[in-house]
Amino acid sequence: MSFKYSVIVLVVSILYVCSKETSDVLVYTVATEQTNGFDRYLDSASEFNIQPKVLGYGLEWKGGQVKSHPGGGWKLKLLKKALEPLAEESNKLVLFTDAYDVIFLGKLDEIVRRFQKTGARILFGAEPYCWPDATLENKYPEVAEGKRFLNSGMFIGYIPDVWKLLTRKEFDDTDDDQLFCTEAYLDEKFREEVQMKLDHKNEIFQNLNGVATEIEISSIEDKEGEGERYFIKNIASRTEPLVIHGNGASKYTLNYLSNYVPNVWNSIEGCRQCKKGHIELETVPPKDVPVVLLSLFIEQNTPFVEEWLEKIHMLEYPKDKIHLFIHNTMKFHVDHVNNFTEKYAKNYVSVKEIVPEDATPEWTARDLSLDHCLAKKCDIYFAVDSVAHIDNPYTLKLLIEQNRTVVAPLLTRPGKAWSNFWGALTKDGFYSRSNDYMDIVHSVKRGLWNVPFIASAYIINSTLLKSRDRTLINFTRPRLDADMAFCSNLRNLDVFMYVSNRVDFGHLINPDNLDITRTEPEMYQIFDNPQDWEERYIHAEYTENFNPDKKELQNDSNFFQPCPDVYWFPIVSPRFCNSLINMMEAFGQWSSGTNTDERLAGGYEAVPTRDIHMNQVGWEPHWLEFLQKYVRPLQEKVFTGYYHDPPKSLMNFVVRYRPDEQPSLRPHHDSSTYTINIALNRRNIDYEGGGCRFIRYNCSVVDTKQGWLLIHPGRLTHFHEGLKVTSGTRYIMISFVDP
Ligand SMILES: *[C@@H]1O[C@H](CO)[C@@H](O)[C@H](O)[C@H]1NC(C)=O
Ligand SMILES: *[C@@H]1O[C@H](CO)[C@@H](O)[C@H](O)[C@H]1NC(C)=O
Ligand SMILES: *[C@@H]1O[C@H](CO)[C@@H](O)[C@H](O)[C@H]1NC(C)=O
Ligand SMILES: *[C@@H]1O[C@H](CO)[C@@H](O)[C@H](O)[C@H]1NC(C)=O
Ligand SMILES: *[C@@H]1O[C@H](CO)[C@@H](O)[C@H](O)[C@H]1NC(C)=O
Ligand SMILES: *[C@@H]1O[C@H](CO)[C@@H](O)[C@H](O)[C@H]1NC(C)=O
Repeated sequence: MSFKYSVIVLVVSILYVCSKETSDVLVYTVATEQTNGFDRYLDSASEFNIQPKVLGYGLEWKGGQVKSHPGGGWKLKLLKKALEPLAEESNKLVLFTDAYDVIFLGKLDEIVRRFQKTGARILFGAEPYCWPDATLENKYPEVAEGKRFLNSGMFIGYIPDVWKLLTRKEFDDTDDDQLFCTEAYLDEKFREEVQMKLDHKNEIFQNLNGVATEIEISSIEDKEGEGERYFIKNIASRTEPLVIHGNGASKYTLNYLSNYVPNVWNSIEGCRQCKKGHIELETVPPKDVPVVLLSLFIEQNTPFVEEWLEKIHMLEYPKDKIHLFIHNTMKFHVDHVNNFTEKYAKNYVSVKEIVPEDATPEWTARDLSLDHCLAKKCDIYFAVDSVAHIDNPYTLKLLIEQNRTVVAPLLTRPGKAWSNFWGALTKDGFYSRSNDYMDIVHSVKRGLWNVPFIASAYIINSTLLKSRDRTLINFTRPRLDADMAFCSNLRNLDVFMYVSNRVDFGHLINPDNLDITRTEPEMYQIFDNPQDWEERYIHAEYTENFNPDKKELQNDSNFFQPCPDVYWFPIVSPRFCNSLINMMEAFGQWSSGTNTDERLAGGYEAVPTRDIHMNQVGWEPHWLEFLQKYVRPLQEKVFTGYYHDPPKSLMNFVVRYRPDEQPSLRPHHDSSTYTINIALNRRNIDYEGGGCRFIRYNCSVVDTKQGWLLIHPGRLTHFHEGLKVTSGTRYIMISFVDP
C-alpha cells in the first residue's frame, strides 16, 4: 500500500510538472454545425487560449434525438476514433465537453491543477439526477456532500484510462453515452482500476440542471482595481467551477450567465461581446447594402399610429433597399395606412399590404411575411408592431451592424417596468423576472443580452430562414400567441435571441385603454401614454417658457405680460386645438346661453356663455391632469408664492362666440383664484374681432394666438369682458382654477 502510494505520488508529481505544458491536454468537443451556442463555446475557449479539436463538424448527427431521448453514443464513437492513435500516450490528458451548451470559465492549467488534486485518473462532472436510468440510483456510492450522479457532458482523464473506458464495451451511435459511462462507473472493479471519480463538489465542472438556486453570479474588483469582473460561484459547494454546462432545461440559466462570463460584460468596458462580429455599414458599397423586408403589424387598435408610421419612414436606411409588408387588421387604422402609403410607398422597392377585409389572422400573416422576405431575397427581416415606436432613426442600421441572428431593440413603456423582452422563463415557458431585469430595463446596465423572449420589434438575419427548415420557424403553436410561439420555436432550435440597450431605441405604446368610439381618441390618452400625448398635443415651444435665457417677448419680470398681471404662454399645439374643437362640435350640445343652467348645482349662471363642460365629454380628469402637469408650473413661475397642488377646478369648458349666437360677454369677475384662457383658433383667419379687455387697466388682448394661454387673477383686480366677434366663430378653453 505504502509502496503503491509513493509511486502514485511520484507519478503525479512528474505529471504535475508535465501538465504545465497545456499542449499535453487535448481538448475535444463534438459539433456538427455552426450554432449560436457553438460560437459561444468557441469564444469562451479563445478567452483562455484554449484550442478545442472539433469532431463531427459538417457531418450529419447520428446520435439520435438527444433532446428528448437517450442517445449520443456517436459522440463517444468520434472521440474513440480520435484517441485511437494516441491510446498509449500515458502522460497526456483529454478534456472532453459538449459544445452547444458549454462554456469555459478558466484556464486549462488551472483545470489540470484541480484535476490532479482529486487523485482521479478520470473525472466526470456530477449532477443531482440519475439519468437516463433512474433505477441505478441505489447502485451509486453515497456521497456526504455534493452531487451524486454522473453527467457525461464534461470529463477529463489520462488518455490510456479514457481509452480503457471507451473500449470497455461495444456501443452503438444511438446508445446513450451517459448510460455507457454510468455503467462503467458503477462497475466497482473498473472504477477502482481507472480511478474513475465524479466532481461532486464542482471543483471544475458545473452541470446547471436542477441547481440554479446554488449558482450565484458575483463580481469582484479587478486586481488592478480597474472596475469589476464577474465570476460564477456555487454557494452550496463553495467552489468556483471552471467549465459550465447548461444541460437540459438549464440552457436558459447558461444563456443568462453567459451575458456576464467569461468577461463578456463588466462595468468599466461595458459590453465586451458587443464588438464581436460587428459590421460597419458605412464601409459597405451601396450595391451590397443588405436588403430588408420591413414588416409592419397592426394587430390591435393602437393610439398614435400616425406617429408610429412617420417614425418608420424616418429610419435612416436607403429606401431602395427596403421592401414593405403591412398587415393591418383594424378598420380604425385603414386611413392611417392609406395616408402613409399614398405619401411614401413610391420610395420603397415594393409594398405588400394585407387589409382588414382579407381577415388574415396574425400568425398566418407573420408566417407569410417570412415567406415574403425570402421571396424578395431579403438579407434582413425587420418586424415592427404598432405598439413599438422606433424613436431612434438609426435603429435599423445599428441592429444590422450588431450582426446577431436575432436581435431586438429594447423598448419600454416610459417610466414603467414593462418592456419587449423577458429576462427569464418559468418551467412552463411563461414570464419570469431575471435578477438583472430592472437594471436592463432602466439601462443601468447597457449591452447585448441573451434572453428567452422578445417581441414587438426585432430583426432576423435571413441566413437563419434559409439554413434551417423554414417550417420550423413559424408563429403558430396551439394555445400560444404568435410571439410566444415564435420565441418558443426559436428556443427549441437553440437560436439565441438578443435584446440590445446599447443606446436608446424607442418606446412602447400602451394600447389597453384606447376607446375608438370617442371623437379624437388620442386626446384621452394623457394617462396611458403621457409621453406620446405630450409630443402630439403640447406646444413645441412649451419648455422654452422655462428657459431663463429666452430673449424674445419679455417684459421686466421675464415673462410676457400683454396687460398688467396677465401673462401669456404657448402651451398646446394646433393639433390639440383642432382636436378639442372637433370633440366639442361632434358632441354638439352647446348650452343655451341663458341664466338657467341645469349643469350647475344651483341651476343658475349669472354670466352665461354658449359652452360645453369637459365632464359632458368625459374629459374632465384629463383636463385636470393637464392643469396639474402643464399649467401649474407656469402659474408658480408668474404668481410666486402661490402653491396649490393639484389645482382644483370645477368649471372647465369651451366657449363658442359668433355673431349670430353670442358674440361677446359682459364685464364680470371669475369665481377663481386664477383663470386660464386658451385660444383654440386663429384670429383674422377663422374669425374677426374678439379678445379680452381688462377694464381696470383699460387694456385688451386681441391678437391672441392659437394654442397660447392667458393666465390672470380671477377676482378683484381683473374685472374683464369678452370683446365682440364680428365674423366667423371663435373658440376658447376656460378654467376657473381654485375657486
Ligand atoms: C457576422 O457574424 C457571423 C456569424 O457569427 C460571422 O461569421 C461574420 O464574420 C460576422 N461578420 C463580420 C463582418 O464580422
Ligand atoms: C389622412 O390625410 C388627410 C390629408 O392629409 C387628412 O386630412 C386626414 O385627417 C388623414 N387621416 C388620418 C386618419 O390621419
Ligand atoms: C447574416 O449572417 C451571416 C452568417 O451568420 C453573416 O455572414 C452575415 O454577415 C449576416 N448578414 C447580415 C446582413 O447581418
Ligand atoms: C411550426 O413550428 C413547430 C416547431 O418549430 C412545428 O412543430 C410545427 O409543425 C410548425 N408548424 C407549421 C404549420 O409548419
Ligand atoms: C410688455 O411688453 C410689451 C411689448 O413688448 C408691451 O406691449 C406691454 O404693454 C408690456 N406689458 C407690461 C405690463 O408692461
Ligand atoms: C382706453 O384705451 C383706448 C385705446 O387704447 C383709448 O382710446 C381710451 O381713451 C382709453 N380710455 C380711458 C378711460 O383711458
